[in-house]
Formats: sequence, structure tokens, C-alpha cells
Amino acid sequence: MGLEMFDLTGRVAVVSGAASGMGKAMATAVAEAGADVLLVDIDQGGVERTARELAYLGRKIVAEVCDVSDLAAIDQLWEKLDKHFGRVDFLGNVAGNGALGKPEEISMDTVKQVVQNLVIGRFYMCQHAGKRMLKQGKGSIVNIGSLASMNALGRGHIAYSMSMGAVIQMTRELSTEWSSRGVRVNAILPGQIMNPQMEKRIENDPDIENFWLRGLPIGRLGQPDEIKGLSVLMASDASSFITGALIPFDGGNLAKNAGGSHPGMPKS
Ligand SMILES: NC(=O)c1ccc[n+]([C@@H]2O[C@H](COP(=O)([O-])OP(=O)(O)OC[C@H]3O[C@@H](n4cnc5c(N)ncnc54)[C@H](O)[C@@H]3O)[C@@H](O)[C@H]2O)c1
Repeated sequence: MGLEMFDLTGRVAVVSGAASGMGKAMATAVAEAGADVLLVDIDQGGVERTARELAYLGRKIVAEVCDVSDLAAIDQLWEKLDKHFGRVDFLGNVAGNGALGKPEEISMDTVKQVVQNLVIGRFYMCQHAGKRMLKQGKGSIVNIGSLASMNALGRGHIAYSMSMGAVIQMTRELSTEWSSRGVRVNAILPGQIMNPQMEKRIENDPDIENFWLRGLPIGRLGQPDEIKGLSVLMASDASSFITGALIPFDGGNLAKNAGGSHPGMPKS
């Protein structure tokens, strides 16, 4: 069996969050596998840096600044996609921040902002990609969810968990509506993949790293680049019968049901 089924030559990918972390790793992976890529991020310096780093591959790489919680900005982004590329074969819906707050205290403005980032923004990206892919009769979408899509985490994750739960139902509904017309929709559920916010949390609370490690049967935190193989699989024909799937990317955390904590829980 050859590796042609993983080849993305001639395909166009849109990846959000492409300045950093898993979005950057996903964009890099699909470009390395042959795709032209529209890199999307709110961080102009970062997304342009990713474009420069990928230039040596010789693909068409375009960096665009877009806040994926801003619907008007998303409209403009997809106009640029049409202008620069004229099609889309893969959407990696990665960007979008949460915010922490106790359920009894968190403001409704904060809750609305998290839902806007993680649910409305991600859905609007899916809608734009889906319309184009349905016309083409083919496409693949990956939404990034979380351990918090499946399990409660405690520790102030109420708005994040509510939103990430919605991301998996969005994924299943879209898969159910679109798969027979050639558009596959799946979710990747990461857990404890190192990023700058987690580094800060470890600096501020030395216990948190050990807490996370207790939930990771694999024995270590994940690195963003470890999403690369899964990204190529999901973007390519190698995953042609996978749709509506929720794929853990978490060192065994969900299998162990290990992500959460509650007030008063013993430390070890
Ligand atoms: N790291 C983890 O363990 C983990 C676990 C579960 C889910 N996630 C989710 O995965 C996604 C990516 O996380 P990461 O760890 O790669 O983070 P990261 O901080 O390394 O990268 C996130 C990127 O998204 C960009 N971004 C943030 N808000 C944006 C917006 N509104 N519009 C456009 N770009 C925006 C940032 O500038 C940054 O480049 C996030 O939605 C996060 O909640 C991460």
C-alpha cells in the first residue's frame, strides 16, 4: 500500500490558530503533505512568521489576520479565500480562547464571549467552508474540541466546557447533514498539549503539572507537533470513511476519565 492516500498536492487548506501551538503544527503538516494553505490568526506577527517558515516548501501560503469570533471578519476572510485560492478542501478550526470563572460568579458577558469564540465563530467557519465543499462535492473539516467536550473539569471551566460540549454536537450534526454529499466533519479532542497559557499556569501553581500528569497514563504532557500525523490523516483521503468521529488526542486521559477536580478533593 502506497502513501499516495495521504498526499495533499493540489488541495487547499484553511487553518485557524496558525500562529502558534496546534494550529501552527496542523498548518505545517498539511503544507508538508502538499497542500496550499490559508493561515489564519489574530496575531499578525505570529501568522506572518509561520508563512515565512513554510515558504521553503514552495506551496502557495497566504497569511491572513482574522478574529474568528468576529462574523464580519470571517466573511472577509472567506472572500479572500475565494480570491486567492478559489476552493477549499480542508478546514482546521483550531483558534478560539476560553475564559475561567466560577459558575456562581462568572459574568454573562464573559460567558457570551466564550460562546462567541468557540461555538458561533467555529460554526460560522464551518458554514463558509461547508457551502463551498458541498458545491465541490468533497471536503473535510476538523473542529478542535477538548477533554471538556466530554467531561466536566471543575476549576472554573464552566463557560469553556459548555462551549466545547456544543462543538461536539455541532460536529455530529454537520457530519450527519453533509457526509452523504461528500463533506466529512470530525472533532479532535486534545488534552494537556503544552502551550504558553499552560506554561504560565505551571509557573503560578507548581502543583498543576503533577495534577495533569496524574490524568495522563502516557506519563507526560503532549507537544503541539504531535497533532501533525492526525492532521494529515484527517485532511486526506486516508480517512475517507471517518466522519462524525470524536478523536481523543490526550495521552489516554479520556479513557481514564481523569480530567476533572472538585472543591475539597484530596491533593493526591
Ligand atoms: N493545549 C491544550 O491542551 C488544549 C486542550 C483542549 C483544547 N484546546 C484548544 O485548542 C485550541 C488551540 O490551543 P493551543 O494549545 O494550540 O493554543 P495556542 O495558544 O498555542 O494557540 C492558539 C492560537 O490561536 C490564536 N487565536 C486565539 N484567539 C483567536 C481568535 N479569536 N481569532 C483568531 N486567532 C485566535 C492565538 O493567537 C494563537 O496563535 C484552543 O481552542 C484551545 O482551547 C487546547
